[in-house]
Amino acid sequence: MSGEVQHLYVHLPFCAHRCGYCDFVTVVGRESWHGRYVEALLAELELEGGLLAERVETVFLGGGTPTFTDGAQLPRLLAALPTAAEVTVEANPETVTPVLARQLRAAGVTRVSLGAQSFQPELLGVLERRASPAAVRSAFYYLRDASFDNISLDLLHGVPGQSTSALEADIDEALALAPEHISYYELEAKAGTRFAHAHGAELARQAEAMEGYFDLVVERLNAAGYRWYETANFCRVKAGGRDLRAQHNLAYWLGRDYLGLGIGAVSTLGGERRRNTPRLNAYVSSLAHGESPPREVEALDERTRAQERLMLGLRLDTGLPLSEATRSVDKAALGRVERLGLATLRADGDGQRTLVLTPRGRRLGGAVTVELLA
Ligand SMILES: C[S@@+](CC[C@H](N)C(=O)[O-])C[C@H]1O[C@@H](n2cnc3c(N)ncnc32)[C@H](O)[C@@H]1O
Ligand code: SF4
Repeated sequence: MSGEVQHLYVHLPFCAHRCGYCDFVTVVGRESWHGRYVEALLAELELEGGLLAERVETVFLGGGTPTFTDGAQLPRLLAALPTAAEVTVEANPETVTPVLARQLRAAGVTRVSLGAQSFQPELLGVLERRASPAAVRSAFYYLRDASFDNISLDLLHGVPGQSTSALEADIDEALALAPEHISYYELEAKAGTRFAHAHGAELARQAEAMEGYFDLVVERLNAAGYRWYETANFCRVKAGGRDLRAQHNLAYWLGRDYLGLGIGAVSTLGGERRRNTPRLNAYVSSLAHGESPPREVEALDERTRAQERLMLGLRLDTGLPLSEATRSVDKAALGRVERLGLATLRADGDGQRTLVLTPRGRRLGGAVTVELLA
């Protein structure tokens, strides 16, 4: 019997080394574990697969560095996963070869998210990235040559030492490649990371100078024909009618259910949120014994889900129907935020109204949404 969940996330945690700024669930080294880990993922899929709909819409392999996973293991995993209209794999540039690009395409991958971060050698050094700017460009062309027509670049603004001209140069380089999609994240120096320790003071000094960086990103990408469809995400508009928004992430922002497999993976399933253990040994050994991995389970009541729907929905340029927001929005706060020009109620043709943040409201992001919460 099949379930109703249309979106599947699979976590591949292995990395060749750990970049100083990253606090995702990653595992460095342990090459001999790749096969056992993929085995465990397949066992978890077997246990949980009944939750998935007969036709899954999106599959996302994230990391870690999925393309660092041992040679035979990635194709083996892809072959076992459900097919979907959008199958995304995250890739680090230095791992992409012409052979790998063709393998991914042949295995049904439709979209690659390439972690460029920057094209400036000194900033890549600060970030402790392994790929040179030339390697980022080569990886992009290998993917194109393998006929990938949906490539996303991940870039960062707010890197220690990043000048306005370095940011402009990164935007120029990214636009020259003409990717279908760009994620432009603000670098977060997460407390407790090696990176925050080494660069925290410098970042604090630069904070004021970097305040206008995201405005510059939005301006330049808009002018180049990219739609700013989510807080940190942009996609090409003139695309022969194709919707180039990241459909998997869009499902998260629209509050849909999803199943996550692997260490640290999160699932949202109706009134329940599950978080798998981040510990490799515990995950692999439970599944080797046919048992579900240790995980935290949090009950989600209607109010929490409505609040999350508001917080995530307002990240999108499409906003969210007022009918879905009424329970979570404070009416007086809405009036105030409208008067400040940060949000607006748009009348749709069918008599419905949609709550959307204005561009200024979207730049302030979460702060406006928190103000709106009832
Ligand atoms: C977790 S990584 C996985 C993909 C791949 N390993 C890579 O490094 O490109 C996904 C993306 O998260 C973003 N990211 C990681 N740590 C971040 C941080 N501290 N602040 C902002 N973005 C971050 C990077 O842009 C990265 O491309
Ligand atoms: S390669 Fe990606 S996932 Fe791995 S440590 Fe670096 S940023 Fe994190």
